[in-house]
Amino acid sequence: MMINLANMESSSWVKVPLFSYSEVESTMDVARILAEEGKIGVVVAEKQNRGRGRRGRNWLSPEGGLYFTLIVRPEIPSKKAHLLSLASGVAVARAIKKEYDLSVTLKWPNDVLYGGRKVAGILLEMAPGEKVPKYALIGIGVNVNHPVSQFESSGVALCEILGRRLSREELLRSILKELYTIFEDFSPEEVLSRWRTLSDTLGRKVRVASPEGLFIGMACEVDEEGALILKTEEGRMIRILAGECLYLRKA
Ligand code: BTN
Repeated sequence: MMINLANMESSSWVKVPLFSYSEVESTMDVARILAEEGKIGVVVAEKQNRGRGRRGRNWLSPEGGLYFTLIVRPEIPSKKAHLLSLASGVAVARAIKKEYDLSVTLKWPNDVLYGGRKVAGILLEMAPGEKVPKYALIGIGVNVNHPVSQFESSGVALCEILGRRLSREELLRSILKELYTIFEDFSPEEVLSRWRTLSDTLGRKVRVASPEGLFIGMACEVDEEGALILKTEEGRMIRILAGECLYLRKA
């Protein structure tokens, strides 16, 4: 193992406490307990025994990957809090570009892809508050040094793309720096404009499975709350706030 994340005690570079574990069920659960105690910070683990993804899926989390959850208390209206997840995708993509000069793309809402395969995933969980969320947990998993493509044909790890092992500590630092830069002066317009530049979803025919049902159409736009606007073949416009998007044909 190149970097022992459990040894990272202080995080002066992110100005928040860093809670490091060698093994957890899920960093989301640890972060929730800390958040309920009123804490903020970053929970990071070497491995997760029950890493979870969006829509109830598992997130493969052996040693070698980067798994962390950021606890934030965002002062943005609950209606717009979904943008945090798009913003996090932007932060991960920017960090990967800066660290490795690798251009990844974002698939709505926030899958980080390289050559159509998933390099990183983001899970946003929120505790509802009156006007703004009580807190938000941003869980980020990056495939770094474990050979993901051997187990999942739709995934790939940075080490497989770059042909070398990488420092997860440096990547974590870089992602957190990007996240805090975006969050410090949170501008929905800027997040959306950056997201549009990095994403390859708009202009494609997609199928989206959402809690409201299954929709097929052309991905036209992402609105100010981060919802995807689809135009169906009958010309109907559909707004989808959360769901799983599948590309049906190239742009
Ligand atoms: C997805 O694409 O489905 C989201 C995956 C999110 C995985 C991360 S790893 C750190 C945090 N802890 C978890 O259990 N899940 C998130």
